[in-house]
Amino acid sequence: MKEYKKRIAVFLVILSLAAFSGCDFISKETPVNVQSIASQPSIETSDNANSASDTNTKQNTETEKETDKNTSDKNRKESDEDKNKVTGLTLDVTELTLEVGQSALPKVTVEPSDAENKNEIWESSDKNIADVNSNGVIEAFSPGKCVVTVTSEDNPSVSAAVNVTVKEIEKTKVSEISVSFTEATLKVGESVMPVVTMSPSNADTLQEEWTSNNETVATVDKYGNITAHSEGSCTVTVTSVSNKSVKKNIKIIVESNETANQGIKPIVTDATYINGILVVNKSYGLPSDYNPGGLTWECAEAFEALRQGAAEDGINIYLSSGFRSYETQNQLYNSYVNLYGKETADTFSARPGHSEHQTGLAIDCNIVNDSFIGTPEAVWLEEHCYEYGFIIRYPQGKESITGYKYEPWHIRYLGVETAQDVYYSGLMLEEYLGIDSVYSY
Ligand code: DAL
Ligand code: ZN
Repeated sequence: MKEYKKRIAVFLVILSLAAFSGCDFISKETPVNVQSIASQPSIETSDNANSASDTNTKQNTETEKETDKNTSDKNRKESDEDKNKVTGLTLDVTELTLEVGQSALPKVTVEPSDAENKNEIWESSDKNIADVNSNGVIEAFSPGKCVVTVTSEDNPSVSAAVNVTVKEIEKTKVSEISVSFTEATLKVGESVMPVVTMSPSNADTLQEEWTSNNETVATVDKYGNITAHSEGSCTVTVTSVSNKSVKKNIKIIVESNETANQGIKPIVTDATYINGILVVNKSYGLPSDYNPGGLTWECAEAFEALRQGAAEDGINIYLSSGFRSYETQNQLYNSYVNLYGKETADTFSARPGHSEHQTGLAIDCNIVNDSFIGTPEAVWLEEHCYEYGFIIRYPQGKESITGYKYEPWHIRYLGVETAQDVYYSGLMLEEYLGIDSVYSY
């Protein structure tokens, strides 16, 4: 008891001294540890001054002093450790939104900055949504929400957390579809496949989905092959799989097989003669290998006579186009088709195998275009060519009979007798022979 009172007294003395001297260790900012304060060297000094009367007591006091010293050392060490203990953890983010597959590394600030053990312990509340490794790298795995917490290894009561939201990967969607054609006419049994372009080209998926609104008329497979089945019309639609609101319609018209059969070009094996006249028009063709090699001898001789007769009348007639082979006509006709389309080309250019120029009996004179109409040369030809065995084959206003528009430059050799007969009949050759001039394909 006596010793206890003595220590209390010593303690009070030290408190007074410290208060008067403004000593640091008692200041508010410094963690206070009573035991460590009681073991300061100054305490020992004052203790010595007050304990000289009793040897036993002194011995006991010495022993206690030793014990106090050990305790003091231990506490001083703990005090040092406390100074570097982690007192706070903060993260630079409290909310984090990641797409599946993305990672993030939040920045951690540890307080105090000179903390000895700054080790962090990371944990996720749902590892299936987002997990975190020992370095704090958060990785998103599946859509949802979870909380990632970092705790101080040094001081488990200190922690910080970030709310993690994981979203599906944002995809770049197709915004536009274009197709190589938006309308097609097919014969039953025919197929066609439009070329499809989706943009942007870096969209997540450029996959297409094809549908037909009437599969009895036409079906479409997953690649866009459209096949005609029966007469009628339907709409085939291509849709972007990545963005179903983006689609394009293709109108399909299906014609019957009957029409299709009519479209097959007949193979001509023989030239056609009617009343001894070689007939070539839209109804009558020539074999592709029919080739006299140039103008026939009779035709060439007759043209020379015509040219001289015109010259005597002060008219200059010259040959612009004579014999044309099947192949030459093929190239010529297709060039017109490319320029003007088939329907228009058919009004002034014969399909291969259907041109009189392939017979070696037809000649285009002078200017082979409409500027020749009404010229003195055109008028002379119209009035005199029959005298030399020729006829104007495609007269004005007779398109529905001959199948071609007016060509004042195109003359056909028939021989003087027949040409004269046709001329005076006032008929077209088709009318004269009782035939028509219509393509069957
Ligand atoms: N211009 C005529 C019709 C032909 O091509 O033969
Ligand atoms: Zn011609």
